Amino acid sequence: MDAEKIELLKQSFAEIYAHKGDLEGRFYQHLFAADPETRELFCHGNFVRKEMMRAILANTVQLLNRPSAFRRLSRRLAAQHRQAGVSARQYRAGPEAMILAFRDILGPRFTPEVEAAWREAMEELVSCFAAAD
Ligand code: HEM
Repeated sequence: MDAEKIELLKQSFAEIYAHKGDLEGRFYQHLFAADPETRELFCHGNFVRKEMMRAILANTVQLLNRPSAFRRLSRRLAAQHRQAGVSARQYRAGPEAMILAFRDILGPRFTPEVEAAWREAMEELVSCFAAAD
């Protein structure tokens, strides 16, 4: 990913982070709306600890220009989800739910350029599922 896109992601992440109370709730709302069965997969009081999801997103923007470290992150996340019983099909719904959550938070500041950069980053993040064993 080029430096300009990474800069866009860093700026929008700072803004998303400032609304951190909203992010996970909105992500799960969109995920469960797209596929209600995924709700049953959550056993830890319903939601992943919020700090963990934000840590993954922070790492995502930091590591985009370091392909091997990024791939390790993607593999680890995929392995954790596989272990939690998430299927490849269910996992692939992640980027869309995340994009919708970002759009809720950023409103008109979620420009087509910012959205395209996040889509690319999120697709990359979930791309290691099949390879993670
Ligand atoms: C694409 C973006 C996603 C991110 C950044 C993300 C982030 C995380 C993180 C950080 C954890 C905790 C991992 C650990 O055990 O250490 C987790 C767990 C989990 N995630 Fe995700 N996730 C994503 C997508 C999804 C999707 C699409 C599903 C679909 C069902 C899902 C279902 C789960 C489940 C079931 C757990 C285990 C929860 C529990 O133990 O109760 N995640 N996720």
